[in-house]
Parts: sequence; structure tokens; C-alpha cells
Amino acid sequence: MVKIGIIGCGWIVKKAYLPVLATMRDVEICSIYDINIHEASNELEQYHVSDLCDNIDRFMATDIDAVIIATPNNTHTYYTNLALESGKHVLCEKPVAFTRSDVESSLSIAKANQRIFLPAFVNRFRTDILKFKELASCLGEIQEVEVSWIRKSGIPRPGTWITNKAIAGGGVLEDIGTHVIDIGLMFISNKDIKQAHLIKGTSEEAEHEGAQWNINNEKQKIPFDVETWAKGEIVFGNNSILKLDVSWASDVSQDVTAIKVVGTNGVASMDTLFGFSNNFTRQNIVINQKLASGKNETVNFPMNNTFAIDAFRNLIQYFIDSIQGQPMENLISTDGIYVVDVIERLYQSV
Ligand SMILES: NC(=O)c1ccc[n+]([C@@H]2O[C@H](COP(=O)([O-])OP(=O)(O)OC[C@H]3O[C@@H](n4cnc5c(N)ncnc54)[C@H](O)[C@@H]3O)[C@@H](O)[C@H]2O)c1
Repeated sequence: MVKIGIIGCGWIVKKAYLPVLATMRDVEICSIYDINIHEASNELEQYHVSDLCDNIDRFMATDIDAVIIATPNNTHTYYTNLALESGKHVLCEKPVAFTRSDVESSLSIAKANQRIFLPAFVNRFRTDILKFKELASCLGEIQEVEVSWIRKSGIPRPGTWITNKAIAGGGVLEDIGTHVIDIGLMFISNKDIKQAHLIKGTSEEAEHEGAQWNINNEKQKIPFDVETWAKGEIVFGNNSILKLDVSWASDVSQDVTAIKVVGTNGVASMDTLFGFSNNFTRQNIVINQKLASGKNETVNFPMNNTFAIDAFRNLIQYFIDSIQGQPMENLISTDGIYVVDVIERLYQSV
């Protein structure tokens, strides 16, 4: 039995972590810490959490084995280091940090305390991504990867911490950019960055358009000072290129997440949709593989609403299995470094 504690009990914890953890046999949700525990504890009766806590020292002193961190982004490094130093394993929501040096120092603390520090890169655990990865594994040497996630109307809670640079670290790039950059980097072997270039901007309607599936009930108004769209290009050590296009709010008919991988032996591409958006009408997720040998393969997945939650279940199970000594193959602790590095270098390039 792995004893779990949660730091920050907001939208994603109630939407994904708690419902999934409640169905897992080998975990116990022991304690939840939140600075606003009274408000955060609404709707939690069904989970029978024994300790709803507003004192971080008391939380860290309990015998929980592992912590899930889902607070606003600017607190991730602080809570990660505190938890690791207290001997807890950590699964931290994205972005795990704002700088490469912060991730590296957290990894050193994890190593010194023999604890796991895992970035919550949930989309690696989607069924469609696992299939895509398999089909892209025979493309030879990878030359170019294109990733995009474009939403029609999907700014998560404009006017809250999510659209404030000091707290969120940035806008769409830190938010959904993190997810697709991680997926793109799975195919890039040499991750030393040679060049990074970014253009970004804020759509005029940004203050008003909020994602329908992530409504803002918060009364405070925090300055909206982040980008809503970003396009970037990163050249790596062996000249492979990652191209990136992300937007919270664009003039498109429906939301789409796309990935294309070009290698010396062929091309693989996929149109899908990450996250919890309800703005799609597609029936199928389509993966195409075209090899230089002339072989073509198309794989269709029926689109359904459980992809996102299933991926969270797989991620949490993987974290639990890793704590219990299973080999880590699909995601390792150092994967967090590269995504943060790319985002840091992209912002620096502007
Ligand atoms: N992987 C995904 O698909 C996904 C989706 C949404 C959010 N996220 C990430 O999860 C994290 C949380 O996002 P959210 O939308 O749930 O946010 P939220 O604002 O809904 O919840 C944050 C919670 O943290 C609490 N909190 C705020 N400051 C705190 C502090 N200093 N210490 C302790 N608790 C504090 C708040 O009271 C709130 O309950 C973010 O890092 C975000 O990027 C990931």
C-alpha cells in the first residue's frame, strides 16, 4: 500500500487525480494540504480523506510515502524540494519548474534522498500516443518533429493565476506547450539546444474567452499578461528540428493536437486531441505511417472522452509501480529537464 498526500486541491485534482486514486487498490489518499483548505475541501466527502490539512510542516511530518503536487506553477519547485527533503516521492504537475537549474537541483535532492521525482507528463500515457510512438520507432534517424495544439476557445480561467506571468511562468507555452514539447522531445535523441526562436502574442479577445470546460468561479482579478499563442523552432545538437505551434484561442473550427515525425526512413503523423476540451466533432483519431520502402499504414482509434482520464490512471499507476521498484521505461525523472530547458530558451530568445 502506498500512502499518498496531495498538495493543492483545485481543478485538476478534483477532475482527475482524486477520481482515479479512489479506484486504485494499492493506494491510500491519506492527506491533502491546501492553503485554502476550507474552500478546497468542498465536494471531497466521497473520498474519505482522513486528514485535510492547512499546516505544511504537519503534512510533511506524516508517514505519507509520496506526494502529488498540483498547486500554481510558481510553487512547484518549493514544494518539490520540501517533499523530497522530507523523504517523500514526488509526482509534480507541469511545468515542474521555470528554469533548468531548478529542475537539476530538485533532481540532486531526489538522488541524495533516494526518492523519485517524476514530471506529470500525462500524455505519454495516452493509448494513441503509445501506438504512435511504436509506429514512429522505425522511421530511422529523426530529422524533424512538428507538434501543435490549437484550440478555438480554450483559455483556462482568464483573469486568474493561470494567465499571470509571475505565477504561471508564462501563458500557452507553459500550459499546453509543455505537453506537446514533451511529446516532441520523445523523438529527439540529442537534446542539446543549439538555437531557439519564438514568436508569441495575445489575441484581443483573450480577456473574455474562457474554456467552457474550465470555468472561472474565482472572484479575484489577477492581471492577464501572458501570451495566448506561440510558435517556436528549436534546433538541437545533431541538427534535428522541433517545430511548435500552440494557441489557446484561434480562428479554427475545432480543437486539434497534431504531431508529425520525419525520419530518414519515413514519416508518421497523427491528429488527435489532448486534454479535456469538449470542442471537437471528430469521430476518429488517425495515425498515418509512410515508409521510404513504400509501405503505408493507417491506424484509427474511435475518439472518446475517456482518453484523458485513462492517461491519468496510467500515469499514477506508473508512479506507484516506480516507487515499488518497477523499471521506468516510458518516462524518467530527467525528462523534466529538457522540456523546461526548451521553454526557458524559447522565452529567452524573444
Ligand atoms: N496535466 C494536466 O492536464 C493539467 C490540467 C490542469 C492543470 N494542470 C496543472 O495542475 C496545477 C494546478 O492547476 P489547477 O487548474 O488545478 O489550479 P487551481 O487553481 O484550480 O488549484 C490550485 C489549488 O492550489 C491551492 N493553492 C494555491 N496556492 C497554494 C500554495 N502556495 N500552497 C498550497 N496550495 C495552494 C489553491 O487553493 C487551489 O486549491 C498547475 O500546475 C497546472 O499547470 C495540469
